[in-house]
Amino acid sequence: MSDKVFIFDTTLRDGEQVPGCQLNTVEKIQVAKALESLGVDVIEAGFPISSPGDFKSVVEISKAVTWPTICALTRSVEKDIDVAAEALKYAKHGRIHTGIGTSDYHIKYKFNSNREDILERAIACVKYAKKYVEDVEFYAEDAGRTDNEYLARVVEAVIKAGATVVNIPDTTGYCLPGVYGDKIKFLMENVPNIHQAVISTHCHNDLGMATANTMAGILNGARQVEVTINGIGERAGNTALEEIAMIIKSHKDLPYMTNINTQLISQTSRMVSNLMNMPIQPNKAIVGRNAFAHSSGIHQDGVLKNRESYEIIDPKEVGIDENSIVLTARSGRAALKHRLSVLGVEIDGDRLQEVYLEFLKLADRKKIINDDDVLLLVGMERSEDRHIKLDHLQVVSGKGVQSVASIRLDIGGEKFEAAATGNGPVDAAIKALKCIIKRDMTLQEFLIQAITKGSDDTGKVHMQVEYEGVVYYGFSGNTDIVVASVEAYIDAINKFVKK
Ligand code: KIV
Ligand code: ZN
Repeated sequence: MSDKVFIFDTTLRDGEQVPGCQLNTVEKIQVAKALESLGVDVIEAGFPISSPGDFKSVVEISKAVTWPTICALTRSVEKDIDVAAEALKYAKHGRIHTGIGTSDYHIKYKFNSNREDILERAIACVKYAKKYVEDVEFYAEDAGRTDNEYLARVVEAVIKAGATVVNIPDTTGYCLPGVYGDKIKFLMENVPNIHQAVISTHCHNDLGMATANTMAGILNGARQVEVTINGIGERAGNTALEEIAMIIKSHKDLPYMTNINTQLISQTSRMVSNLMNMPIQPNKAIVGRNAFAHSSGIHQDGVLKNRESYEIIDPKEVGIDENSIVLTARSGRAALKHRLSVLGVEIDGDRLQEVYLEFLKLADRKKIINDDDVLLLVGMERSEDRHIKLDHLQVVSGKGVQSVASIRLDIGGEKFEAAATGNGPVDAAIKALKCIIKRDMTLQEFLIQAITKGSDDTGKVHMQVEYEGVVYYGFSGNTDIVVASVEAYIDAINKFVKK
C-alpha cells in the first residue's frame, strides 16, 4: 500500500510574499477554490496579524472552502495566535502554524537569546495555540542550518506540548539534498515521540535544490510537503507543487501517493500566473511552455514512433490538451463563460458582458483565441477601475526614422497629452508618458512574451519600475506590443500613485 504524502499549499502565504504579486480577497478565494479542486490537503491562507487584508482573506477562504484544512501563520507571540484563531473561526478544519527560529543565527542575532530560552518559547507557543485548535503545526525556522541534536530536542518538546505537525524548513535554501534527507532521518531515528506527529518539509529554492530536498525529505520519512503553484515565493521561491505531484505520480517505483488531481495542474498554474502577473519560465518543469515541446528532429521522430521514447509524462496527465483552442469571433457568450469556467474563473452578468466585448475586439484582431488570451482578458477587465489609464497612443517608427510618440492619459477622469521622441517606439512612448507623470522612476526590467505563436499573437509585457527605492510590478497584454508596454508601465505606476 502507498503512503500518503500530504500536500500543504502555501501559494497564498509564502508565495504571495513576492513583491508585486499581492492578490485581493476575491482573487485569493478564486485561487483557494482552485486549490481545493486540485486536491490539496492544507491551504495556508495567510498570516492574519500581518495586515487587515491577510486577516480578511483567512476569514473568507475559511468560509469558501470545505475540504482542505485552512492554516494561518503566526510568530511565537500570543497576540499573533489570538488573531489567527479569530481569523480561523469559520474554518471547517482549522490549523495554527506557529514557530520560532532555531538556528544559532536566529537565536543569537534575531532574538539575542540562547537555546534554552528558545526551547521554552517553542513549547509555550504550541501550548498557547492548543487552547484554540487541536491541529497545531510548529515550524523550526532555519531548521536547515540548525544543529541536529538541538533540533531533535525542540521537535521532541513541541510534540510533547501537542504539535500535530512539525515543519523543518530549509528557510535559506542552503541544504544539499543528502544533508536535508539526513536531517529528517536523524529526527525520525532520534526523537522518541516522532510518530505522534507528521514531519513536514518546507524547502526554498535559492540554490535550485528545493524539489530535490523535498524529495529527500519524503524518502527519509517526511509525510507532508509545503509547496506553491509554479514554485513561486520570495527570492528564488519554494518547492513547486506540480513537480512533487508529478514525481510521485510518474515514479511508480516509489511507494507514495498524493491526493492531487494532476489533470488540473496546467489550468491552476496558468490561473496563478495570470492573477499574480508572474510569468512562468518557458523551460519550467511540468508547466513551462516548452516542458513538452520537442524541437530536435531526433526527438520528434522518436516521439512520433513511440511517445515514451522521449516523454516520461503524457501532457494530458497535467491537463495540457492540444485541442483546447476553441474560441473564435463566432463564439458566443455561453462558450466564453464555459471556457472560463473550465479554467476555474466564474463570471456572470455585467462582468461577463464586459469581458465578452473585449473578447470580440480581440477576436477581430486575432483569428483563434486560446486559454491564455481568455485569462488575460479577465485580468485586464480588473484594470478598468485604475486611477491612470491609457486613453490614446500613436507612434511613428521604422528603419531610418526617428521614433515619435504622442500619448493621452486619463488621470482620475481628466485628460493629459504629451509627445516625445525616442530611440524606439517604446522609448518614445514612455518618455512622452513621463512628461505627464513627472516622477523619478526607473524601468528596471522589461519582458515581452508572445502567448503562443503567429504574428497576430497577443504579447504579454511584464515590467519592474523602481520608485523611491521600491520596485513595483506592472503587467499588460495586447496584440500591439507598444500599447502593452505602455499599459504595463502604467499598471506599475498605478501601484504607487494613489487616487
Ligand atoms: O521559510 C520559512 O522558514 C517559513 C516559515 C515561516 C514556515 O516560511
Ligand atoms: Zn518559507
